[in-house]
Amino acid sequence: MSNIGSYTDRLKDFDWSLAEKELGYRAGEPINIGWYCSDRICQMGLADKKALIWEDFHGASKTYTFDDLRVLSNTIAASLQELGLKPGERICLFMDRVPELYIGFLGILKMGGIAQPLFSAFGEDSLLTRLDNAKTAAIFTQRKHVAKVRKILAQLPEMRHIIVVDPDGPPLREREVGFRLDQAKRVEQFTVHPTTAETPSVLHYTSGTTGQPKGAQHVHYSLISQYLTAKWVLDLQPNDLYWCNADPGWVTGTSYGIIGPWSNGITQVVLDSGFNTERWYSLIQKHRVTVWYSAPTAIRLLMREGTVVARRFDLSSLRHLCSVGEPLNAEAVLWSREAYGLQFHDSYWQTETGSIVITNVPEMPIKPGSMGKPFPGIEATIVDPKTFEPIDQPARVGLIALRPGWPAMFRTYWNNRATYESKFKNGWYISGDRASLDSDGYFWFVGRDDDVINTGGHLVGPFEIESALLEHPAVAESAAVGKPDHVNMEVVKAFVALKPGFEPNGDLELEIMNFIRKKLSPLAMPQEIEFVKSLPKTRSGKIMRRVLRAQEWGEPIGDISTLEDD
Ligand code: PRX
Repeated sequence: MSNIGSYTDRLKDFDWSLAEKELGYRAGEPINIGWYCSDRICQMGLADKKALIWEDFHGASKTYTFDDLRVLSNTIAASLQELGLKPGERICLFMDRVPELYIGFLGILKMGGIAQPLFSAFGEDSLLTRLDNAKTAAIFTQRKHVAKVRKILAQLPEMRHIIVVDPDGPPLREREVGFRLDQAKRVEQFTVHPTTAETPSVLHYTSGTTGQPKGAQHVHYSLISQYLTAKWVLDLQPNDLYWCNADPGWVTGTSYGIIGPWSNGITQVVLDSGFNTERWYSLIQKHRVTVWYSAPTAIRLLMREGTVVARRFDLSSLRHLCSVGEPLNAEAVLWSREAYGLQFHDSYWQTETGSIVITNVPEMPIKPGSMGKPFPGIEATIVDPKTFEPIDQPARVGLIALRPGWPAMFRTYWNNRATYESKFKNGWYISGDRASLDSDGYFWFVGRDDDVINTGGHLVGPFEIESALLEHPAVAESAAVGKPDHVNMEVVKAFVALKPGFEPNGDLELEIMNFIRKKLSPLAMPQEIEFVKSLPKTRSGKIMRRVLRAQEWGEPIGDISTLEDD
């Protein structure tokens, strides 16, 4: 029996207070995600239960109980206080998937700080933009990433501490401090900062079409939705062994790679390594993983290897599979039935929504290719892109719109209220995604309504890439668009016009690709560069990415004279 039971029964009289009651939270009282994920689970008699089983690619392993989470997050919180860090300050986590990342996240929240996770593959420019925007006061990092921080430190006057979690080796430099979790004095008792529902908790940066990435600011009350969606969508039950593929540099890795499972007192396994079919299957086999939250790109990679590889492993422990981040194509659902005897349940949400909003819950019949229906308590519809009125006609494409007010919804974009407000129209939060509804109330994803590139489930902003391209001495102007890709759905393609004196050739193409990889990240690196004489522009000189994108996708360009000129 699944946790949610009947979806239709759950819709009746649904109220988020149900989750508040289960968590023992009363309005107006303190609520701290760090405490809920560790101390509370210990108080429920689960102190000795395993919380985290960590492994790296080669099989090195560490295990932490919920009591370890409690004590070690206290230890980190106390160390941050000793460094003089104050509640409300932004503290960045810039690490691979090491235990310090997960436990550090809880520690920051416990002392009242705002956790700012950033993907460890980010290069110096990606890092600088986000740390500068948030005026971040401290950053946790590893030796292998510290060079990137050192390079930009002069431009970050607010950054007071660089906390290196594996400090052995050459002497640390200015503003750097070593911190070894396994050698730090264990802090048994810590007074958790009395954060309340609307106290900021997590700042996740996400890319839009224009301008630099924006920090979606979440609050401690997000726990209410994250706890309940983890329980009802991921169907986490006491004896489960849960595995989430997402890196906490992105929202799935925090909402459902930390907060969801641990606030439910669930044991999870973390693999600190990228995709590798055999490594992944052997992890499932070894730990007897029961619930798996993955993503379409990974599923497509597994499909490529075929069911033969899957059959070489004992994957019989799996009982529930979910997916997020990109359209889950019908073939992937059908294939998972064949390979694992189970179907992937799609879930749709965004950095801004903080928690799953549209999904297939366990008891719901899956229509392969559809994202499912709104989670109870979420009012979702499809609106007309011009009037923002709900479209009543089944199958007509419009924008996914959500009625604001669920607990995990972002509260603003950091230091950018105007853009936040621009997301609301006619009483709806406009997601920026196009979809249609069928007569049974299922949502069918069509595509994004903007120029943001979704590569392997990660959003990359064209503006950030174009700005970085312009820093290359050979580049006069550029446009970055998504081009179709069998595995990653989209990859970045850049159109580049060169400055006089530079000739297009293969070496220059490689040089520019690497330039972007180092400055931004491997995700943002163009997989192809097309050298052009000039780029299509509006009368006012704005580059028309849409024309280039249509060309890549083999779609009609349409009437470009109607393209807005702003
Ligand atoms: O375009 C949608 C796509 O990913 C975007 C959100 O990306 P991000 O904020 O990075 O958060 C990712 C993880 C929640 C959405 O606007 N997306 C997410 N889930 C799906 C999806 N597209 C299709 N189907 C999904 N299930």
